[in-house]
Amino acid sequence: MCGIFGYVGTRKDAGALVVEGLKNLEYRGYDSWGVACSIGDGFLVKKDIGKISEVNGLQFYEECSLAVAHTRWATHGGVTKENAHPHLSCDKTIAVIHNGIIENFGEIRDELKKKGHTFVSETDTEVIPHLIEEELKTAEDFAAAVRKACLRFEGRFAILALHTASHSLVAARTGSPLIVGVGKDGYYVASDFPAFLKHTKTVQYIDNGEMLVTDGNSIIFSDLATGVEKPKREIEINWSIEQAEKGDFEHFMLKEIMDQKESVARAVNQDEEQIMTLAKAIHDAKGTFLVGCGTAAKACMAAEYFFSVIAEKHVNFAPASEFKLYHHFLKPESLLIVVSQSGETADVLDAMRVAKLKGAKVLAIVNVEGSTIAREADYTLRINAGPERAVASTKALTGQLAVLLLIAYALAGKLRQGKTLLLETSSQIAEMLNPRYVTRLKELAEKIKNDENLYIIGKSWNYPMAMESAIKIQEVSYIHAEGFAGGELKHGPIALIEQDTPCIALVGNDEVTTDVITNSIELKARGAFMIGVAPKKHEVFAEWIKVPDAGPAQAIVNIIPIQVLAYFLAVKRGKNPDMPRNLAKSVTVK
Ligand code: AGP
Repeated sequence: MCGIFGYVGTRKDAGALVVEGLKNLEYRGYDSWGVACSIGDGFLVKKDIGKISEVNGLQFYEECSLAVAHTRWATHGGVTKENAHPHLSCDKTIAVIHNGIIENFGEIRDELKKKGHTFVSETDTEVIPHLIEEELKTAEDFAAAVRKACLRFEGRFAILALHTASHSLVAARTGSPLIVGVGKDGYYVASDFPAFLKHTKTVQYIDNGEMLVTDGNSIIFSDLATGVEKPKREIEINWSIEQAEKGDFEHFMLKEIMDQKESVARAVNQDEEQIMTLAKAIHDAKGTFLVGCGTAAKACMAAEYFFSVIAEKHVNFAPASEFKLYHHFLKPESLLIVVSQSGETADVLDAMRVAKLKGAKVLAIVNVEGSTIAREADYTLRINAGPERAVASTKALTGQLAVLLLIAYALAGKLRQGKTLLLETSSQIAEMLNPRYVTRLKELAEKIKNDENLYIIGKSWNYPMAMESAIKIQEVSYIHAEGFAGGELKHGPIALIEQDTPCIALVGNDEVTTDVITNSIELKARGAFMIGVAPKKHEVFAEWIKVPDAGPAQAIVNIIPIQVLAYFLAVKRGKNPDMPRNLAKSVTVK
């Protein structure tokens, strides 16, 4: 997944503008960066490996009002300066940046080489400017040349292409996200709106299978395949700049963990009529599936328990990447509930599209307004967590859990009861996340920061949270962490326990508490250093992290101290929790 940002308009500082804006997209990929400014009949291009946030004082000596910038998460071609975007045509009059994959780039590159085009990189992206250059020889204009080129490409992509002669910017998308900022001084086109939020909050959405062309004065959206113009509404987005920025936190991850003092309440603040409609859709469906990836998948796993215990409704969870194996169960009466923070995850989109082909309805629970999943679903609920920029998903998860639990209560005819429980839980979280509590977790991280293995157990809805705990700790601290159902320990994993192996038990105050305490005793008997995340202290715990007694919302409160612990483990192990190695914020490629 990469970050792309372009500008065309009346401003003369387009180069500096796109570089600064790109820094707000660094969470989308950060192994290399590049910028191209249209100057005269060519481009000034600067690019290098490394993080765009570490690029300061880049000088643009000449005026420029048409520019693009790109931050890369390498897919095809290693992390090298030559592979960094933008990429140019042979005649250097076309510059392109790209997010996604051109799956048939090999055959296109061979064809272009035979026509005399030369390539300087290993990327799939570089075929784009050269194919546009070839199409421009016969097309009526630059936009038509881009359209013809894009219709040759197979795969999911978003591209920005600049043309010096027509001084225009053309964008096209077939899967990866793009959004347009409408400014008084021109148009901003980016993967995500934090790139231009300081310049404008007026946006237009470009949908899958569409393209746009703008010279900075006007903009035309059209269908990529047919060329038919598609007028777009201008929409005001309501995320403030400070929400999208770090504030006075060292990392986005800690800011977003602390945002949970308010974000759970925002998630619960849903239109009750819409919640009841969705509950009825689940009630009436013949076969309901819960699908997501990564952390969002763990929210789905927990929801399977919510629907079973609260509403006595049988729903099936499947990781989106495995959902293909369930396709034969889908029918027009089925309902697919997809959960995704970014609303752009490729595996989830694929699951949705199969379900819709089978005539099933799709409910999307997302965070990002206007995301592809949000716009393709039949029903959409937003968790209102605000921008989540750290790669590690934290406040989005608790927002997803809150919405799913609320729907389960609505399905049981107890919406009011569910809302009361969750608003109380939100207050408990706000009280829990105090400086003393955070310091306690920082001290615990200090104790176990050098351990290379860490195990987490839970039962019921705390079992998915044990697995989510493992994801959090793995992805930011690189410690080998694994989550298990407590009852599964004696069937294998307990063989892993050695003297002082740190083990965390996620506990509530409910009918399964005794079981998990028993599992903890079994672990301690084999030498484990037991850490209890529980409303009550138990003698089996060498360390006790107190959490509120939240009843069926226990999963929501239990995961939060783990998020804080994971954050400090990363920092104490010298890692950047916001940009962990090998990962990206949204996996928009399969
Ligand atoms: C979570 O911390 C990870 N970054 C990752 O597992 C993420 O949850 C997963 O890729 C799904 O992303 P989505 O919620 O945007 O669909």
